[in-house]
Amino acid sequence: MQSIFLLLGLSAAISATPLGQQVPLSETEPAGQVLASRKPLSGRFLHITDFHPDRLYKPGTSIDRSCHHGVGPAGYFGAEGTDCDAPLSLVNETFRWIEDNLKDNIDFVIWTGDSARHDNDEKVPRSAEEIVQLNKFMAQKWIELFSQGQSEDTLAAVSKLSVPVIPTFGNNDIMPHNIFDEGPNKWTKRFAEIWKGFIPEDQRHTFVEGGWFTSEVVPGRLAVISLNTMYFYDSNSAVDGCNAKDEPGYEHMEWLRVQLKILRSRNMKAILMGHVPPARSSEKKNWDETCWQKYTLWMHQYRDVVVGSLYGHMNIDHFMLQDSNKVKIASDADGKASIRSKANYLESLRDQWSSLPSPPTDVFKNFDEIMSGNYNSGVTSAKKGKKHNKKDKKKRKFLDKIGGPWAERYSVSLVAPSLVPNYFPSLRVVEYNITDLENVAFGADLTSYETHTTSDDLDYTAHETFESDTSTPEVQKKKKKDKKKKPNFKVPEPPSRTAPPGPAYSNQAFSWLAYTQYFANLTQINHEVATGQRGDDPRIDFEVAYRTDDDVYQMKDLTVRSYFKLAARIAEEDEADADSHSDSRIRAADWSATDKKKPINTAWRAFLSRAFVGFEDIDDLID
Ligand SMILES: *[C@@H]1O[C@H](CO)[C@@H](O)[C@H](O)[C@H]1NC(C)=O
Ligand SMILES: *[C@@H]1O[C@H](CO)[C@@H](O)[C@H](O)[C@H]1NC(C)=O
Ligand SMILES: *[C@@H]1O[C@H](CO)[C@@H](O)[C@H](O)[C@H]1NC(C)=O
Repeated sequence: MQSIFLLLGLSAAISATPLGQQVPLSETEPAGQVLASRKPLSGRFLHITDFHPDRLYKPGTSIDRSCHHGVGPAGYFGAEGTDCDAPLSLVNETFRWIEDNLKDNIDFVIWTGDSARHDNDEKVPRSAEEIVQLNKFMAQKWIELFSQGQSEDTLAAVSKLSVPVIPTFGNNDIMPHNIFDEGPNKWTKRFAEIWKGFIPEDQRHTFVEGGWFTSEVVPGRLAVISLNTMYFYDSNSAVDGCNAKDEPGYEHMEWLRVQLKILRSRNMKAILMGHVPPARSSEKKNWDETCWQKYTLWMHQYRDVVVGSLYGHMNIDHFMLQDSNKVKIASDADGKASIRSKANYLESLRDQWSSLPSPPTDVFKNFDEIMSGNYNSGVTSAKKGKKHNKKDKKKRKFLDKIGGPWAERYSVSLVAPSLVPNYFPSLRVVEYNITDLENVAFGADLTSYETHTTSDDLDYTAHETFESDTSTPEVQKKKKKDKKKKPNFKVPEPPSRTAPPGPAYSNQAFSWLAYTQYFANLTQINHEVATGQRGDDPRIDFEVAYRTDDDVYQMKDLTVRSYFKLAARIAEEDEADADSHSDSRIRAADWSATDKKKPINTAWRAFLSRAFVGFEDIDDLID
C-alpha cells in the first residue's frame, strides 16, 4: 500500500474517486484502492440545491394555483419569483447546461436535497410514490450526466460515474413533509436504493440506520459528510433534539463526532453538508437548540478537520457564523417565510454581526495587517507584556476576542440559493486550493494526531480549560458557574496545541478560495421563448451573478476570517465606508437600479440583493 502512495505522489495526479471504488472509513485502513486512471483534480466542485421538480407544472397557468391550473403568467421554464415548483424543462436544461459547461471541470457535486415538488396543491396531494419517482428521476439525471460508458441498470452504474455526487434528505423528500422518524424506516430503505449510485457500499448500512453517510471524494484526503438534518430540524415533530440518548439526533451527533475523530487520526479533511442549515437568530431558528449547541461545539473542536459546511433549504443566498462562545438568544417560531420576513431574518443576522468584536483601528483599514500572523497568543504575549506598546495590546485584545489571528472562535455555514425559481434559478461553483496536493497528499504522517488523542472521555472541564484561552474575564466567570453542569455526552478533543490552523482558517490544501454564483434570468428567457426568439427547442443559459472576490465582497479566500470581515463590513453603519467605494462597486452591487437609490452600505446592499438572486428590488426592502 505504501508503494501505491509513493507512486502517486510522484506521478502527481490525485483525483476524485468514482464512487464504486470508495474506501471504507475505518480506523485501521487508510485509502488503498487502485487510483490509476483518474483525471487530475480541477479544484472546483458544484453545489446545487432545491430543484423541486414538478411534473404537473403547466406553462400558462395561474401562479396562485401552484402553476398547475387556471390561466395565468406561468412561464415556459418556470414562474420566477413565485412559490411554484420547477417544470421538468428547467431541470433538463439545467443538466444540459452543466453538461456543456461544468461536467469536465468539477471534482464532485454537493446536492443538498428537496428533489420533489412541494405539497402545495390540495387538489393534487402528493403521494409517496410520486416523491420516490421524482427522486429517481433526479438520481437518473446525475447518472446519465456522469456515467462513463453504457450500463442497463443505470441506478447501479456506480463504478462508472466520473464524478462523485453526494445527496442528502430534504424536508420535502419525505411524507408528510418535515416528519422523519427514527431509522431504519421506509424512507431510509427506499433512498438506499434510489441513491445506490452515490452512497459508498460500506456506508449503506449506516445510511439505512440513520439516513447519513460519508463519501471519500478524494481518497485518503477529503471526505464529504452527508448529514441528515431532519433529525436536527425543529419542525420535525417525530423527534426531539440531540440531548436524549434515545433520540436519532443524539445518535447522529455521536456518529459525526466519531467520523471527525477518525478523519483527524487519518490526517484527512471533511466538508459537511445537509439540507436545513443551522440558522439561529432572533428572527429564525431552524434547528433544535441542543443540536445547534453540539454542532457548534463539534465544529470548534474539529476546526483542524472541517473545511466548511454547505446547506440549502432556505432558497436565499447567505451565510451564518456559529459562535463557539454560544450567545444565548431568544428562539422564535418557524413560520412560512415571506420575502419581508426573509429580509427581517437577514437584518437579524446583520444585527448579530454588528456586535462582532471590532478591530481597534479605523474599521478594517488595517484589518488584514491586524489579522496577519504577527501575533503572539495569550500566555506568551502576557509574559512579554512590557515590550508591547499600547497599540499592540489593543490588537491582542481584539484577536483574543475572536479566537486568535484565524478567528477560530467562529465557524461558518454557507447557504446556497435554490434551483427552483423562488427568485431566479441558481447554482454555485466553489473553487478550492489544490496547490501541493500531489506532494503533500500521500506523505502525510497518519499517526501525528494520535499521540495527542489518548482519551475520548473528556469532560466539560477540559473543554472549558481550552476555551478560556479566548474569553474575557466576564465570560470566564460565567463559565465557572456553568462548569458544574457536566454534559451527558463525550466532548470532542480540540486539535493538538501544535496543530496548524485547519483549511477553514488558513489557506492551504482544500481551503475554499472563491465561488462563482450563476443564475438564469427567467424573466428574459421566458419572454424570449414566448416571442419565438429562442426557436422551437429553447435553451437556458446561466450567467455569472457574482464572484466572492469581486469588487464588492473583496474576499481573498473563503476562510472564516474572510467571512468574519465580510460580516463585519455588512454590519457597519450605512455610509461608514462610503467614500472607499467606487461607482462601479455600487453598480455591481445593485442589480435592480432605481432612481431612489439611497446612500447605503455597499456590502449590505449587495448581500441583500444577492440573497434574492438579483430578483427583488432592494430599495423596497431597505425602505
Ligand atoms: C426531460 O428529460 C427526460 C430524460 O431525462 C425526458 O424523459 C423528458 O421528456 C424531458 N422533459 C422535458 C420537459 O424536456
Ligand atoms: C494554496 O495554499 C498554499 C499553502 O499551502 C498557498 O501557498 C497558496 O497560495 C494557496 N493557493 C491559492 C491559489 O490561494
Ligand atoms: C432580467 O431580465 C430582465 C428583462 O430583460 C431585466 O429587466 C432584468 O434587469 C434582468 N435581471 C437581472 C438580474 O439581470
